[in-house]
Amino acid sequence: MTMSRSLRIAMTLGVAVMVAACSSTATTAPAAKKAYKDMTVGFIQTGSESGWRAANTSSFKETATADGITLKFYDSQNKIENQITAFNQYIQDPAVNVIVLAAVGTTGYDDVLKAAKAAHKVVVIEDRRIEADASLYYTYIGSDFIKEGHEGEAAMCDLLKGKATANVIEIGGDQAASAAIDRHKGFAEALPNCTTTAMTVLDYQNAPGWDPVQGKSIMEAFLKKYTGKIDAVMGHNDELSIAAIQAIDASGLKAGKDVQVIGFDATADGFKYLINGELGADIECNPLLAPQVYKAALDALNGVTGQQAWTPSQEGQFFAAQGATALQAILATRKY
Ligand code: AHR
Repeated sequence: MTMSRSLRIAMTLGVAVMVAACSSTATTAPAAKKAYKDMTVGFIQTGSESGWRAANTSSFKETATADGITLKFYDSQNKIENQITAFNQYIQDPAVNVIVLAAVGTTGYDDVLKAAKAAHKVVVIEDRRIEADASLYYTYIGSDFIKEGHEGEAAMCDLLKGKATANVIEIGGDQAASAAIDRHKGFAEALPNCTTTAMTVLDYQNAPGWDPVQGKSIMEAFLKKYTGKIDAVMGHNDELSIAAIQAIDASGLKAGKDVQVIGFDATADGFKYLINGELGADIECNPLLAPQVYKAALDALNGVTGQQAWTPSQEGQFFAAQGATALQAILATRKY
């Protein structure tokens, strides 16, 4: 029995259609979802300039261990040029699929960000904002330092109640850092909000690399230059505020009485000075950012889009006025 020619053609076509269908479904099978064990993170840290920074570094190391993430850690010694070197190193490293940056400065990262993008590395900015187009990184997770500056001003206004006018000294963090730039800006722009005391920033100087030793020398010089004129001090982090307190006490004045002092970070050391009353207020800056950063990086690896450009950190404020007992109870619950 001979099969008609058209039937043979139809059957051949039928087989061809089936083969095509099989192969197309084969090519579009969804890629397996990535998990934390698939992440190798190149973490470019600023350095080790403060208790806050140590807590931030621990957050990344401990969370990586807990989640089974491979972490390559780079201490930039607070130098931007080292951060560029580290970026290029991780871009060249085939094992690295995620780069996390805690930026020493705000500018100078465009080229490495573009190179990382071209190399299909996920980049997440943590802690400090940078001035680069948001399309050059997946997301930024970090503090609203301007808001912290506003909160610092409000706390200082409260501490100076009863004084018609007050002179404030500002000991700044590293001048390249967005944390210092924005805390300074936030504090200055909020000064008019204080209706009970006309506050003036008498003088402002940055301590390179957030170095408390230089912070203390700066305060000692200001105490000489403005003898009897200083009513308050704003230090850009706990170490700089504590350095100022030590200089004030060494000059024969009493911090928390003759001179009001506020700080930023709210580390365990900051709490110690809140509890003894020498630090009047401490505006929290949250260092425990690793879980959010790793989650965002994993989302990026799994092609999740529509992510927020910036996720501000959750932060609080603490005051000597809360009293030693209450502050000790809070301190006992904190990780840093
Ligand atoms: O970016 C956060 C700042 O960096 C902290 O306030 C300071 O302690 C650290 O150096």
